[in-house]
Amino acid sequence: MSASEINLHDRRVLVTGGARGLGEAFARALVQSGARVVISDVLHERGQALAAELGPCVHYLPMDMCDTQAVQTGVDAAAHHWGGLDGLVNNAAITNSGGKDMHEISVDTWDQVMAVNVRGPWLASVAAQKHLAASGSGRIVNVASDTALWGAPRLMAYVASKGAVMSMTRSMARELGPQGITVNAIAPGLTLVEATAYVPEARHQYYQQGRAISRAQVPDDVTATVLFLLSRGSGYVTGQVLPVNGGFVMN
Ligand SMILES: NC(=O)c1ccc[n+]([C@@H]2O[C@H](COP(=O)([O-])OP(=O)(O)OC[C@H]3O[C@@H](n4cnc5c(N)ncnc54)[C@H](O)[C@@H]3O)[C@@H](O)[C@H]2O)c1
Repeated sequence: MSASEINLHDRRVLVTGGARGLGEAFARALVQSGARVVISDVLHERGQALAAELGPCVHYLPMDMCDTQAVQTGVDAAAHHWGGLDGLVNNAAITNSGGKDMHEISVDTWDQVMAVNVRGPWLASVAAQKHLAASGSGRIVNVASDTALWGAPRLMAYVASKGAVMSMTRSMARELGPQGITVNAIAPGLTLVEATAYVPEARHQYYQQGRAISRAQVPDDVTATVLFLLSRGSGYVTGQVLPVNGGFVMN
């Protein structure tokens, strides 16, 4: 199934951290499949330029996931922009602990990573809840990472945050199910984007050799899964963590 085969006509979706990388790929794929999109980020110039490039179905909204008030008002503004909200992609995240042994990570870094990667999706989901309930087929897709499934070393704060995202996904699914909202997580493998350019070649090779599909992973390998989980047709899939990683980790 390719992204262009999934119809998201008139679905209204907020993608956090959508100015670049995987979030940008999700925004592009969403537009192609007929959705109306709000991308939020802290990279304002990038976000505005991307929205301008993608046309009238995309709106850029500044929203810092660390700022509790900004997340609340930002999610409301995103819902207001298109007259409602059908989907939230909790994509914004930072790594910051890459390449460091756990004793080298500062408490400040740990707290920062948790604030963006765990507290942020929780706050955004809380803010989105009433809008998604009103949709009748609300969807939350949390972007986790397969590093939390295979126990990637020298990435401790990030790995812990993504494990928390997976756990949160299951509990959220039970809390929000009665309102018709599904909550799922995807766990991509190491994907070629500018944020992973720093990752040593040895780690890229390790991934490539361990995959059932033995090649580099690119953003478009991930988009169709996200579109499916945002679609009306995925309404009986909830509380799941779906590795999207060419078979590097298998459930
Ligand atoms: N690229 C990979 O290999 C990979 C693998 C597994 C999971 N992921 C996950 O995919 C998602 C996207 O990552 P990416 O690889 O595209 O990296 P990225 O850095 O390009 O994307 C993250 C986005 O979040 C934004 N962001 C950071 N801090 C923010 C804040 N405080 N408030 C709002 N936005 C903020 C960034 O500006 C950026 O646009 C993340 O959740 C990441 O953990 C990536």
